[in-house]
Amino acid sequence: MRISVLGCGYVGAVTGVCFAELGHEVFFVDVDPAKVEAINSAISPIFEPGLDKLLAKNNAVISATTDIHQAIQETEITFVCVGTPSNSNGSIDLTYVQSACQNIGQVLKQKDEMHIVVVKSTVLPGTTEGMVRQSLEEASGKVAHVDFGLASNPEFLREGSALADFISPDRIIIGTADDYAHQTLGELYSSFDCPKLCTTIPVAEMIKYVSNAFLATKISFANEIGNICKKMGIDTAEVFTGVGMDHRINPAFFQSGIGFGGSCFPKDVRALIAKAEELDVDARILKDVSRVNEDQPLKMLDLLERHVPDLENKKIGLLGLAFKPNTDDVRDSRATPLVKELLRKGATVLAYDPMAMGNFKRLYPQIEYAPSADSVLEADAILIATEWEDFENLNYQNKIVIDGRRIKKAREGSTYEGVCW
Ligand code: UDX
Repeated sequence: MRISVLGCGYVGAVTGVCFAELGHEVFFVDVDPAKVEAINSAISPIFEPGLDKLLAKNNAVISATTDIHQAIQETEITFVCVGTPSNSNGSIDLTYVQSACQNIGQVLKQKDEMHIVVVKSTVLPGTTEGMVRQSLEEASGKVAHVDFGLASNPEFLREGSALADFISPDRIIIGTADDYAHQTLGELYSSFDCPKLCTTIPVAEMIKYVSNAFLATKISFANEIGNICKKMGIDTAEVFTGVGMDHRINPAFFQSGIGFGGSCFPKDVRALIAKAEELDVDARILKDVSRVNEDQPLKMLDLLERHVPDLENKKIGLLGLAFKPNTDDVRDSRATPLVKELLRKGATVLAYDPMAMGNFKRLYPQIEYAPSADSVLEADAILIATEWEDFENLNYQNKIVIDGRRIKKAREGSTYEGVCW
């Protein structure tokens, strides 16, 4: 098929390149000329292991442009993959989705052939049949599900393993309200060997939110249990090994530590809470999922102050700034509240991360950045905030170490505290 992808950020770049790998012709569209130029030079606009290679391999069937008109005219199906950031009150900001749909509608107005618009951006239930449909219909003068197809197809990609998550997903969710979109998306995904759930558009949108909210809930639950276990001297990981053996529970996403970060879980939980409020539903569980997550990094500082009671003018080493390993992404990283609180307590921070220092410097230019992980060990005490493999090769002998991510080597010969173990 001939596919256009609007938005060359994380979801768009991975989606487009993977479809090209599966033999489709892909036209990327982005308002940012730098991203367009990068893709046309076979350079990935985002960091994701393996993406550069796959982009270069499929360069012949991939093109990028800032000209939406050409891309929509020359393709049969468009995936809307633009960002949906948070507003200050936690609700979802649909500005980029709306302008993308208005622009698509403009082109559909002049397009005779049938076309399908598929929303892959994370949007709350009701958005596709609401604002998206309205924007498309107003701009095109056409009727959704009659003159053009409209569908929802949420993604479940994890940073660091997104290519594998796209090519071998646990399931594919397709929300449609017209046969044309239903058949075409069925065909597009026909080669995927996994369960495919074809449902209504609002259900597909809600599946995305509930999946992320539940994974976030598992993590906050594991951290709450972890805080109890810590006080009782029990190792949380061993507890969850046993708990996870129950097939109704599943062991995944029970790693306790300092909580979840990234561009998805915190934002999606906040958006669901804001939506619930709008509907006059008190989302108590979700609110506490966020509260537990906000407090969890500070547990590390409580443990640190047991060993370094006065942090004023102390140098505290911080290993890990990315929200998880194998990414340069620091969005909502749990390292951020740690740095904020250490600075507030008058400490100096010496931080290191194999990939994310550049991004973190934009948030905190005032802290020290170490040339290597080793050099962080000169500090008065060490905090571990991301479980990079590299940190298993350090010598923590005689160091005070507070570990938020379970680095085995960190216990050896050190004064060691695990946040939940
Ligand atoms: C997540 C979802 O997994 C993915 O399906 C969705 O499409 C986007 O959001 P991602 O944000 O890349 O993906 O990260 P993920 O690997 O899920 O980790 C999220 C956060 O939870 C990280 O900060 C990680 O350190 C933390 N985490 C994860 C835990 O603290 N404990 C766990 O057991 C698992």
